[in-house]
Amino acid sequence: MPKVIVLRWGHRPHRDARLTTHVALTARALGASGIILSDVEDEKIKATIEKIVRSWGGPFYFEMGTSWKNVVEKWRERGGVVVHLTAYGENIQTSDVLKRIKALEKDILVIVGSQKVPKEFFLETVSDFNVAIGNQPHSECASLAIFLDRLFEGKELAKKFENARVKIIPQKRGKKIAKDSTFL
Ligand SMILES: C[S@@+](CC[C@H](N)C(=O)[O-])C[C@H]1O[C@@H](n2cnc3c(N)ncnc32)[C@H](O)[C@@H]1O
Repeated sequence: MPKVIVLRWGHRPHRDARLTTHVALTARALGASGIILSDVEDEKIKATIEKIVRSWGGPFYFEMGTSWKNVVEKWRERGGVVVHLTAYGENIQTSDVLKRIKALEKDILVIVGSQKVPKEFFLETVSDFNVAIGNQPHSECASLAIFLDRLFEGKELAKKFENARVKIIPQKRGKKIAKDSTFL
């Protein structure tokens, strides 16, 4: 299974807090190893993610403030692949783009935007693949979820998280939670 890190570009602290938190939650719950909040620092997002990892388990990497150019450069230097999720890219359903990505068997940096992204994101110097989750505009959260689910073929939904303080015990009805050592 490839290691996946999500690069969240364009976060505006006062406007995007909830959506960026959801992007991070989605990344963690659907099998990514971490998220980088590029070009901006937001202590509230950091605290929220750390709290989630403390309660629900990890590991899950978080970094903020690094410029997207540095992240992409380092990732590529280390031999990783960069996938930019955009409505303008190759359609994940009607093209063979996912097959080509999987065939490389490399770690993947997944870039998702918020506001209009820099034009460079589309260039081959930045992204190896521009992938569309359908060619209609929708959401960074939805596109990330579908991309990860197709990449990991659903296996990420059975992932075990380490050092969790709480864990959901699935029920037909109602809510059941195990705490601390009960499930270790
Ligand atoms: C709400 S959209 C805004 C996009 C912005 N209007 C633009 O033209 O770049 C925010 C992010 O969601 C993701 N996104 C939205 N629709 C998508 C789609 N159909 N396929 C892949 N990613 C998508 C992209 O990463 C995009 O940067």
